[in-house]
Amino acid sequence: MPMSTMTLFHNPASPFVRKVRVLLLETGQQDRVALHACMPTPVTPDSHVVQGNPVGKIPALRLADGSVLHDSRVILDYFDHQHVGNPLIPRDGSARWRRLTLASMADGIMDAAVLVRYESALRPVEKHWDQWLDEQRNKIRRTLAELEADAIAELTSHFDVAAISVACALGYLDFRHPDMQWRLDNPKLAAWYAEVSQRPSMQQTQPPV
Ligand code: BEZ
Repeated sequence: MPMSTMTLFHNPASPFVRKVRVLLLETGQQDRVALHACMPTPVTPDSHVVQGNPVGKIPALRLADGSVLHDSRVILDYFDHQHVGNPLIPRDGSARWRRLTLASMADGIMDAAVLVRYESALRPVEKHWDQWLDEQRNKIRRTLAELEADAIAELTSHFDVAAISVACALGYLDFRHPDMQWRLDNPKLAAWYAEVSQRPSMQQTQPPV
């Protein structure tokens, strides 16, 4: 087993961290990285994370030379340049821009879903802003509807940056927002997810119960 020379600041609940861990497993690089668990929130930054990433977000990746990469998109790109198999982020051409755009839609779902989680779990109930929460959920629903209408064949074709990102976004909805019942309006996405969520990389990175 290779010595890990890199440290990934992570939390198993974060869908952004999960994308990185899934890509590491899919490309056989998981042993290169030591995991450093932390739980930064918007109101309780983690000092170790802030040292390397002033924004305070995870994932952040400390390299052997002490430099730190962030955010998840940069870390995915970094690791995708470090293995010998087919790239999981196409290097050029229209495929690159389309797959990254699908991944960006998934990131948008995660952003909104994490913000809803913070608002609901961290903010005092009397300060909850219902209109804001509704609009975050609408963002999620609109994006899912577009993936359902336009992207199933593309997602099915490769388990790459696009598919990994969408799978991690759906996993997070199941984990933190089961009340949204996203499968009801998105049966094709649900069937696709039922299959990809069985992959060892997805099974081994399931959020904690
Ligand atoms: C969560 O507990 O939902 C969470 C934890 C870390 C980052 C993002 C979300």
